[in-house]
Amino acid sequence: MNNLILYCRSGYEKDCAAEIQQRAQEVDVAGFVKTNRDDAYVVYQTFEENGAEVLLEKLPLTSLIFARQMFAAGELLSGLPEGDRVTPIVAALSDVQRAGEIRVETPDTNKAKELSGFCRKLTVPLRQGLRKAGILLAKENPKRPIIHVCFVAPGKAYAGYSLSYNTSPHFMGIPRLKFPSDAPSRSTLKLDEAFGQFLTSQEQEERLCSGMNSVDLGACPGGWTYQLVKRGMFVAAVDNGPMEQKLMDTGQVKHYRADGFKFEPPRKNIYWLVCDMVEKPSRVAELMEYWAIQGWYREAIFNLKLPMKSRYKEVSQILSTMSEILKENQVKDFKIQCKHLYHDRDEVTVHLWLNPNQGI
Ligand SMILES: C[S@@+](CC[C@H](N)C(=O)[O-])C[C@H]1O[C@@H](n2cnc3c(N)ncnc32)[C@H](O)[C@@H]1O
Repeated sequence: MNNLILYCRSGYEKDCAAEIQQRAQEVDVAGFVKTNRDDAYVVYQTFEENGAEVLLEKLPLTSLIFARQMFAAGELLSGLPEGDRVTPIVAALSDVQRAGEIRVETPDTNKAKELSGFCRKLTVPLRQGLRKAGILLAKENPKRPIIHVCFVAPGKAYAGYSLSYNTSPHFMGIPRLKFPSDAPSRSTLKLDEAFGQFLTSQEQEERLCSGMNSVDLGACPGGWTYQLVKRGMFVAAVDNGPMEQKLMDTGQVKHYRADGFKFEPPRKNIYWLVCDMVEKPSRVAELMEYWAIQGWYREAIFNLKLPMKSRYKEVSQILSTMSEILKENQVKDFKIQCKHLYHDRDEVTVHLWLNPNQGI
């Protein structure tokens, strides 16, 4: 298969395209990008017949900032007959064997989502057709490839697969999180999603523990603090604004009316630092670097507000400068991940883990 389909937020196609172009080049898979503004997906067409499959093996989805999901596909199937869409889709997937799951999806746009009812209905006969052809196993299997059929318009779809160990576990690459009715702000979902994105469930159990100390810079009204409190942590919440009273009543939060850029942690055993201050991204990155060099935390999650143009270039520059500065300052062992989360708008979320090879 020679098309790599990548889902992204509508309006971010250029950034997703710039990223895949560069990353595919780094692993020597030549090709070109096809994309349209606001389509919420990008196609990277490789010159080699199996180029998309090579990319699935060589590029971890977790290392891509703007892609929510990716899968290898053949040519766009167009003019799928209304009476029988199953036969041509099954034929297009004849090279796939014993897949473990099927997802009939659309890109994340209002227009494409009008097709989601149709996609749900198609899933049943398509599943049967694929099973009969031996393309899909009779029982779901999380260790086998996932078949994706993505309807980009009525009668037009890309059909292909992703690898079980390099895929988003979520339909359309979008985690369905429930907004907790007692949370003080919707941005609480950003931190909840970030924990799910950057840590496996087992890692969450080990590293988001009751009794840990944390700092939340730019905390008000408390959506991120809420997530830390919910996990049993103590939080130093730094912001000049008001914190929600219910959070203060838990006794787990101390509110510091201070400038997050000047604040110093009151205790030296902070595990989590989180930061959602609306500021220039380079300034936030410098602050995270400074705290890391001081050894003031073990793990941080912070947002970088995106500029209007060259968003991929700017973010990758900030992240590579961050790596250089940490290394120059003897912080040698660290891991950086960055994702444009579903609940992020014009910002990306970064996870910086210091000394990942030491125990907690
Ligand atoms: C996007 S809001 C944070 C929302 C919060 N994470 C939540 O979930 O409720 C940004 C916050 O950063 C705070 N802020 C901006 N600059 C700051 C600074 N220099 N020091 C402390 N807080 C700052 C603002 O007062 C504002 O409350």
